[in-house]
Amino acid sequence: MTTAESGWWSPWREAEGATILHVDLVPDEDREARAFALLDDEEQVRWHKFPVAAPRRRFALCRAALRIALAERLGCSNRRLSFGHGEHGKPFALVDGRRAAVGFNVSHANRHGLIAVAAHDWLGVDVEERAPGRDLDGIGSMVYGPTEQRLLTIAAGSRKVHLFYRLWSMKEALIKALGSGFSLNPSRFEIPAPMLHGVRSSAFRFPHDPSSSWRLIDLGEDRFAAALAYRVPPGGAIRHSTSTPDWNEPPTAPSGRVEAAPVSTGTRVPAGPVFAACGHVAVRPCNVGRQHYHRQACCMRVP
Ligand SMILES: CC(C)(COP(=O)(O)OP(=O)(O)OC[C@H]1O[C@@H](n2cnc3c(N)ncnc32)[C@H](O)[C@@H]1OP(=O)(O)O)[C@@H](O)C(=O)NCCC(=O)NCCS
Repeated sequence: MTTAESGWWSPWREAEGATILHVDLVPDEDREARAFALLDDEEQVRWHKFPVAAPRRRFALCRAALRIALAERLGCSNRRLSFGHGEHGKPFALVDGRRAAVGFNVSHANRHGLIAVAAHDWLGVDVEERAPGRDLDGIGSMVYGPTEQRLLTIAAGSRKVHLFYRLWSMKEALIKALGSGFSLNPSRFEIPAPMLHGVRSSAFRFPHDPSSSWRLIDLGEDRFAAALAYRVPPGGAIRHSTSTPDWNEPPTAPSGRVEAAPVSTGTRVPAGPVFAACGHVAVRPCNVGRQHYHRQACCMRVP
């Protein structure tokens, strides 16, 4: 039986060298208990500290699926795997304590989890379930750039909902690929113009670091908005081999709050929303418990 058949995840998409898996996050106590058993001590401690059941479940199910998928890809047992974290919390895989030659990123939203795995690093994935009935223009005015805001304002009804989450998933995939999280103000860069108008894939450059090239892919479907972003290696095309990724050639990952240059459309981006000291958008206490809860509570988990 393959791991996909074992039910931790199902294959979802292949996109430019990345394999994207879908994780079913519907409540299921038995599955969550089995997922919990696959976690290491540190992860089990983390699981216990979640104050709320839904994010606790999402973490356990996605982390178990990630472990199984990575162990299979790396040819090691689950127990030999552990995770380190970058400055802003981006996890990377270790086998027997040494950095593994694999890139991945995880996203979860309500009933859906996505795991992107590739030979290269600097990979970001995001999934968002579309939730109508929110002040999307109000939120958009805090997190989107001028062109994005204009498009959102003129869209109505279900088109507005679709546009809001489509833009949001693309922005989040980019900041997750970069690893900065919301220490990078998302209103300070804009989605490339062709993608604003429906094109599904485009090259991208962060205004604060135009020397690095990125690729952005809209993966949205009926059930959810989703996007994948990755850094294009110097020299062009993405590698499909499983050789060691170029860990030693990082693009400029911002540390702390970043005031990126104006977007390349030539439009000056006005001073952004009021950012908390941590760089997150919603001004709420930064140190509300452990990191994951902090994210849910005080950052841009607007939907
Ligand atoms: C990364 C971030 C944008 C993800 O937001 P989210 O609403 O939790 O969204 P998602 O469900 O899409 O992603 C969560 C997953 O992203 C991964 N992740 C965590 N930090 C990440 C980062 N900096 N970059 C990329 N991926 C990251 C993790 O795998 C996490 O899931 P897990 O903890 O269950 O393994 C957000 O958590 C963030 O801004 N983090 C940085 C926090 C930070 O800088 N804190 C210090 C300042 S106070």
